[in-house]
Amino acid sequence: MTKRHVGITDTTLRDGHQSLLATRMKIADMLPIVEEIDNMGFHSVEVWGGATFDSCMRFLNEDPWERLKTLKKGFKKTKTQMLLRSQNVVGYKHYADDVLEEFIKYSVANGMDIFRIFDALNDVRNMEKAMRVAKKEGGHVQATVVYTISPVHDFDFYMKMARELQEIGADSICLKDMAGILSPYISYEIIKGWKERLDIPVQLHAHYTSGMASMSYLKAIEAGVDAVDCAISTFALQTSQPAIETMVASLEQGPFETGLDLTKLSRIAEYIKEVRKNYTQFDSSSSSVDTNVLLYQVPGGMISNFVNQLKEQNALDKLPQVLAEVPRVREDFGFPPLVTPSSQIVGTQAAINIIVGQRYMFATDEVKNYMRGYYGRPPAPVNEEVRKKIIGDETPITVRPADLIEPEMSKARELVADYIQKPEDVVSAALFPQVAPEFLKQKLAASKS
Ligand code: CO
Repeated sequence: MTKRHVGITDTTLRDGHQSLLATRMKIADMLPIVEEIDNMGFHSVEVWGGATFDSCMRFLNEDPWERLKTLKKGFKKTKTQMLLRSQNVVGYKHYADDVLEEFIKYSVANGMDIFRIFDALNDVRNMEKAMRVAKKEGGHVQATVVYTISPVHDFDFYMKMARELQEIGADSICLKDMAGILSPYISYEIIKGWKERLDIPVQLHAHYTSGMASMSYLKAIEAGVDAVDCAISTFALQTSQPAIETMVASLEQGPFETGLDLTKLSRIAEYIKEVRKNYTQFDSSSSSVDTNVLLYQVPGGMISNFVNQLKEQNALDKLPQVLAEVPRVREDFGFPPLVTPSSQIVGTQAAINIIVGQRYMFATDEVKNYMRGYYGRPPAPVNEEVRKKIIGDETPITVRPADLIEPEMSKARELVADYIQKPEDVVSAALFPQVAPEFLKQKLAASKS
């Protein structure tokens, strides 16, 4: 009997350290293991995008573009993959189309193969531009549906959105469960539904947080999923992905194969185990499974943010109230999935509501902009009473937010005019105008000394 092949994407060098080490892993610690990973036979390697771009400049004094270029030199056989937040690119707000276009152009030029593209509100209008540009530049477009639980996110929603993305031109579809709340049977239902309705491959990305992800993967595989995301065991579990080795061993004795070798994998695991010791101050490893996420659907990273915010206010005892406030705020906001940046927007408001003791008396600029429609269309209508409290009689926009943003590249070029060494530097400045100028200035100075 021939076994069905299941692809495994290795997320160790992106989501693995983003989830467990606050995105602090340096390129110097990646390079010694790149060749081994490249020889393994992974479906793809997720190595860039998400928070890594920001982290490179902000914390590591590393040029994110050089990181990509260097990694690409190492990954000769395996496709590289990145996480792209649609119009938020790799930042936390909507950028103009020219920034997005240039970003994608240089990502492809520096070696990016697969673009996993998602929007925090699942607003397809926000995704279209990124999808079309990535396609035009020759990238593989993996359009993504963010998984969340709400009365409006039913089976039909997942079917309809995936079909829409296929029609726009997606090369594959991903279901992204950033909070780890996808249960095995729902996983089976959605993946089976997609396999019956779509003509393109389907991939599943989940976080282990609640302990369900390995089971969700197995059910997805039984339903016909083409690939799943895993991290090497020493960078897996907790708020990261399920472990590669566990998946390989589990499938081997069934009607599936991954093409991966457990002995070779153990060498990578051993290496990463040692490297992890360099980052203990950032290591978020705590309890192995967080069941709060099942109650509140709050991603792991959000809870640690709450703890920090509340500590500053001397109000750590209010954590249970804040956690209980999150689903209420989320309902008022039209059930956005809790993923960057909507998780920060909802989370901060929930904390403010509880600390102030009066709901929506204060709101951040991000919350005001959310209510103005500047992040896109929420999955369900927002609570109009709440909107009134936050932005008064202002009329929210109904168009795609980026349609109202003037081109931003020329301003960015001016901002770093004296420090530009390559065209990509302007893109860095457009994305992070607070961080990039100082970074580029120092880089230029270092190159001259
Ligand atoms: Co993830």
